[in-house]
Amino acid sequence: MTDKLQPLHPATLTLGDKSYSLPTCEGVEGEKAIDISKLRAQTGYITLDEGYVNTGACESAITYIDGDKGILRYRGYAIEELAEKSRFVEVAYLLLHGELPQKEQLLQFSTRLNESSIIHEDMHHFFNGFPRGSHPMGILATMVASLSTFYPIPDELDDATEIQIVANLVSQVRTIAAFSYKKSIGEPLIYPSYKLKYTRNFLNMMFASPVRDYELDEDIVRAIDMFFILHADHEQNCSTSSVRTAGSSLANVYAVASAGICALWGPRHGGANQEVIQMLEKIHAEGGDGTEFINQAKDKNSPSRLMGFGHRVYKNFDPRAVVLKKQCDKLLNKAGMTDPLFDIARRLEECALKDDYFISRKLYPNVDFYSGLILRAAGIPTNMFTVLFAIGRMPGWLAHWREMLHSKQVTITRPRQIYVGETLRAYQDIDQRS
Ligand code: SDX
Repeated sequence: MTDKLQPLHPATLTLGDKSYSLPTCEGVEGEKAIDISKLRAQTGYITLDEGYVNTGACESAITYIDGDKGILRYRGYAIEELAEKSRFVEVAYLLLHGELPQKEQLLQFSTRLNESSIIHEDMHHFFNGFPRGSHPMGILATMVASLSTFYPIPDELDDATEIQIVANLVSQVRTIAAFSYKKSIGEPLIYPSYKLKYTRNFLNMMFASPVRDYELDEDIVRAIDMFFILHADHEQNCSTSSVRTAGSSLANVYAVASAGICALWGPRHGGANQEVIQMLEKIHAEGGDGTEFINQAKDKNSPSRLMGFGHRVYKNFDPRAVVLKKQCDKLLNKAGMTDPLFDIARRLEECALKDDYFISRKLYPNVDFYSGLILRAAGIPTNMFTVLFAIGRMPGWLAHWREMLHSKQVTITRPRQIYVGETLRAYQDIDQRS
């Protein structure tokens, strides 16, 4: 336990005729925990907590969430304030360094991101090796892991070098994403421009072309930058836990980031934004208003779930969904953009929030429910949605990687299990097997 945790009165565990005293502690926001780090040595018992719903994996000073109150703060700053007043590069600096940057620090960081925005020219050949129609998340995970072959990491890393590598990756992930999109549509790669800031640079690499003029739409730049801010971190979610687990084996940072990308890909996690649009498109194609789909999502025998709804932690509302819904409204109201999928989404939300099935299970719209509509309005292809989630989450993953690596507690992550398989049995020659 670090000195940030306040010890509380010990807990007493009674097992049979024995009692054991277990230390307890409290974090700065009043979260309480029983420290079971010596439980097995003391009692021979382990705990069992599928999906770690009740288990804290670590202490962290990066992000605080209160699921009941819908609170999300990065390094103590409310997500609503950061979304409104900050920009993604500044939020990435905040997550990685723990403080908002001074002017000179922000300029240096932004310049660093620009100078490291290209990838080794020989990496371009890799893109040609992927079959047509490859999912961009598979390309992203592969290309990020392969950065370790072009930019080998020295065994001894001083802090300044580590921060440079991390900044490079925050920048290069955006270039790899845009290049994979250009390759997928058979258009020439558009290189990053040192004249453009982070999000503008990304959109330019995605949509500019030697044969057509591409005007950056400021509302879309703002919407995508805000999308990146809202996705930048989320404490010990599935992909961040994967990053911390992979990092605990001392694998290199590119392998660790690739582990995060792979975990994020799943439809229950970062892949949900793509699933939300596909769900809305299906409802629209069937000419429905969503009522039938909601009944399917409630039916235990149906595989359908209301994608973009529900969250392991948020049990009242996801503050990011509230911000994204407003941004969605703004973007779609601009120049009279209408999108039937947005109308269906609003109707689904309205119905679900009145339906006891969702209310009793505390299922509310999460970050993915509206994010896909913003990306769609920005012209981002659906199969790139989770890739943009990964770009946004990269600074959060890397902040957790660094925190884990430099914490006093760092031990390799190795949970135990309760075995329920066959007990000891003798080997049988194949002729004796029935
Ligand atoms: C993200 O952890 C993070 O922080 C993640 C994230 C981040 O920023 O990193 O916030 C990003 O991943 C957001 C979540 C995106 N996923 C989806 O939108 C997919 C749809 N949602 C679900 O699959 C589900 O809600 C989860 C996975 C998000 C949360 O699942 P839990 O907390 O493990 O809940 P559960 O699966 O145990 O379900 C509890 C009950 C069950 O019904 P009963 O068995 O009690 O009758 O709620 C039902 C579930 O069937 N349920 C749903 C539902 N989600 C849960 N029923 C219909 N539709 C849904 N979406």
